[in-house]
Amino acid sequence: MTKIGHIELGDCPLIMAPMEDVTDMPFRSICKQFGAGLLVTEFISSEALIREAEKSSLKMRFGPEERPIGIQIFGESVENMRKAALIAESAQPDFIDLNFGCPVKKVVMKGGGAALLNDLPKMVRMTEAVVNAVKLPVTAKTRLGWDDANRNILEIAERLQDAGIRAITIHGRTRAQLYGGTADWTLIGKVKENPRMQIPVFGNGDITSAVIAKEMKDRYGVDGLMIGRAAVGNPWIFRECKAYIERGELLPPPSLSERIDILRLHLERSIEYKGEFYTLLEMRKFYSGYFKGVADFKKHRMRLMTADSMEELIGIIEEIKISAPPVP
Ligand SMILES: Cc1cc2nc3c(=O)[nH]c(=O)nc-3n(C[C@H](O)[C@H](O)[C@H](O)COP(=O)(O)O)c2cc1C
Repeated sequence: MTKIGHIELGDCPLIMAPMEDVTDMPFRSICKQFGAGLLVTEFISSEALIREAEKSSLKMRFGPEERPIGIQIFGESVENMRKAALIAESAQPDFIDLNFGCPVKKVVMKGGGAALLNDLPKMVRMTEAVVNAVKLPVTAKTRLGWDDANRNILEIAERLQDAGIRAITIHGRTRAQLYGGTADWTLIGKVKENPRMQIPVFGNGDITSAVIAKEMKDRYGVDGLMIGRAAVGNPWIFRECKAYIERGELLPPPSLSERIDILRLHLERSIEYKGEFYTLLEMRKFYSGYFKGVADFKKHRMRLMTADSMEELIGIIEEIKISAPPVP
């Protein structure tokens, strides 16, 4: 049984990876419905939380059906991270997750996210400050190290565990790799094998199918699997991984009508959550996923991307439903 503090997660939970502008409340709830066992919010800037920036405060919202859920925060100042963790705790999630892996320039240049990989003592101080400030369990999400010459995740994991985190997620890339190349799970496996490690170790990076998920679990013995990009517009991946890992069953992909039903549910929830304007804008990154395998999708894609009302969008979706049989 995998546990974060007292939170019981069953055997090898499937974790929805936090993704900015993707894993908001509407999409998380859909992934949960299809078997994601653990959810995390998009990363939230500690400075913005302290400033009470409305957009950031909204990112802490979640529904009761989403539990267990963590709020992820990032930042460069130890004191601001401590304060932000207290603010996040007041939103009553089940745990607080610290982002030590974001490779994006605007975050790293300021000293947050993956920049902490270059300053392990500060990463440890930050973690201790948060762990000591809040009552909730604290977890961390990080990468293998800064670059190829500094793949020090074994040391990082031990030091973060000593600082009091209750689980660690490791994305099998360095900061220098950004999202390029392929994720290397061997060091994730080494962290898991390290006899000093007592906390759950979650593996992340390039899980794109149920078969790969099971292979990573079996080969590296991790306590949980985190799935990111492969779930965008494809929440069914959680159901597929679960069926294969638990029962050895390979499920067929969802039918076009199921895909469209869920896309429409996603749109409805999204409009409720952030209104039509932002829904039209932010749903764009989901269409390729929802319509994967649909013949001739390219010819509809641009129209979906440029639709400027919900009515127009629904019209195009219905047209795809009628005219485009899925590729067998
Ligand atoms: C669009 C996008 C946004 C992301 N935002 C976050 C984030 O807010 N917090 C975080 O810890 N990781 C973030 N990530 C990284 C993912 O959580 C994950 O570690 C990475 O995509 C590798 O997993 P995958 O190969 O399954 O996608 C983001 C990734 C993408 C593609």
